[in-house]
Amino acid sequence: MCGIVGYIGTKKASPILINGLIRLEYRGYDSAGISTIEKDGLSMMKDKGRVKNLYQLEGMDNLNGTIGIAHTRWATHGKPSKENSHPHMDNSKTFSVVHNGIIENYNELKNFLADNGYTFYSQTDTEVIPNLVHYYYNKDEKNDSLKFLRAVKNACCDLKGSFAIEIICKDYPDHMIVTRKDSPLVIGKGEQENYISSDIPAILSFTRNFYLLNDYELAILSRDTIEFYDKHLTILKKEPKNIEWDATSAEKDGYEDFMLKEIYEQPTAIRETIGAKLNEATKCEFSELNFTKEYLSSLNNIYIVACGTAMHAGLAGKNVLEKLCKINTQVDVASEFRYRDPLVDEKTLCIFISQSGETADTIAALKLCKQKGAKTLALTNVIGSSITREADFSIYTHAGPEIAVASTKAYTSQVILITILAIYFAEILEIAHEQVDLLKRDILELPRKLEETLALSESIQSFSKKVYQEKDIFFLGRGIDETVAKEGSLKLKEISYIHSESYPAGELKHGPIALIENDITVVSIITDKNLVEKMVSNIQEVITRGAKTLVITNQDIDETMFDMTIKIPKTNSFISPILSIVPLQLFSYYISKGKGLDVDKPRNLAKSVTVE
Ligand code: F6R
Repeated sequence: MCGIVGYIGTKKASPILINGLIRLEYRGYDSAGISTIEKDGLSMMKDKGRVKNLYQLEGMDNLNGTIGIAHTRWATHGKPSKENSHPHMDNSKTFSVVHNGIIENYNELKNFLADNGYTFYSQTDTEVIPNLVHYYYNKDEKNDSLKFLRAVKNACCDLKGSFAIEIICKDYPDHMIVTRKDSPLVIGKGEQENYISSDIPAILSFTRNFYLLNDYELAILSRDTIEFYDKHLTILKKEPKNIEWDATSAEKDGYEDFMLKEIYEQPTAIRETIGAKLNEATKCEFSELNFTKEYLSSLNNIYIVACGTAMHAGLAGKNVLEKLCKINTQVDVASEFRYRDPLVDEKTLCIFISQSGETADTIAALKLCKQKGAKTLALTNVIGSSITREADFSIYTHAGPEIAVASTKAYTSQVILITILAIYFAEILEIAHEQVDLLKRDILELPRKLEETLALSESIQSFSKKVYQEKDIFFLGRGIDETVAKEGSLKLKEISYIHSESYPAGELKHGPIALIENDITVVSIITDKNLVEKMVSNIQEVITRGAKTLVITNQDIDETMFDMTIKIPKTNSFISPILSIVPLQLFSYYISKGKGLDVDKPRNLAKSVTVE
């Protein structure tokens, strides 16, 4: 959601900025723009629509500046339009700014600035920033090298809300300032050049050395240097983080779409996430954690809080934490949890799952739990992301960058990581030894079984061809399979725009069965041997009413009554979602392709939801 890119170096900035924006397209946007420092002052090129349209803008070819900022906007304040697109300049065209986040007190600041003679040309909250910087810049009587920095710092102290900001100034043609609060921003260090981005994959082909800013910290960049300051303008020392992700992991690598590539990367993502944490011979190891038997035994509750797909991974986490560790576990959607005064105290462990580590509601929920005295643990895919800077503990999936908006490999990696976490807890608690041994063995076999599951893709594609024009598709399951039904239904909605519902199969008769009519498609998941008969009778009920049925199962059942059965490998029920979701990911993918849609960038959606 909104992307920012910046470049300062020896090369022409404009193509680097536009290419960077193209790499951030997956985050979701409706307008794009860039600003550079040219010989005759600041340039600004922007419009609503796709990033590549920027190449067509008059004057783009004449930009030669080697320092610039760029932005993709996802409209919040003011409709998508040229005026509302970023960058925004102050009235005197001294400063150019791009901003990701929301300035909550922009009305108040706008009135203040209007009273001081400033005029506004857009409906955005962002436009107050360059003008406020200009206001402080003008008031400052000292004309030293820090004047630009002081003006930005003073302006940022007045801002309420969230921001990641890049700002350039025509009076400082060799410098750029960046700062952030609650919105993502990374600084990439190169040779005689430095890069800014909202996330790592966009600039991974240029550098592996990244700096991260904490809230309210500022960085002033030149071609060769990066200086860091806190909000009192005290100089800070920072060490770069070396990111191990491979640059090709942010490329399509021969696949038609990132989503398909990421579906096929799941065996590797699972292997990497298991890493050295789990083996059959020794206890599970999380060097980042220091939980004791006393602490875990004292817990009254675990809360798992997340959004969307990450929340569905949390449901699999609840299953294993309750059944294996016998700890009462609740799963909540972050945007609801925050506002319902949850019963959290020092005896609660709160786990936050987030692929990006930047989801605004999840981070806010984490802050709330900290205030209430609970221990907080972030489970994320992005090293150094905002959530890891807030949480008491952080553990990582090693799925590599996930570019497609619809989450696939992040989900399965989250499920495996929370399962390993539960094993780690059980081993500390010295319980469920036999179950743990079996589960460990099954986990180590998962990558191979995932490969077998992916080999079923042709049958799934052929069923998808039969149903891609449907208006409604239902997903059913019981127990752990119902959590997979939820995730399958979400995937389908997101990328195919087909209306879809998921239900616990036993609930059908309590209402939803009224919606089942001739030829409607019902997808069912059956992996729990204790629930096979119950599931089969529920499916029979929909067949009787004329439904077409697709069944994903690892059980030996009479397949003749279903239109299509996808037989996946048997595994431990704690980790069955990791296999049973794969046919559903492929099902959604092929339906979306059948409809000719943009699989990787579905309408209205953003990869990283940084607003509440
Ligand atoms: C669905 C999807 C979203 C995310 C949700 C949380 O495919 O990707 O539902 O799971 O927006 O995002 P993270 O995990 O980054 O907090």
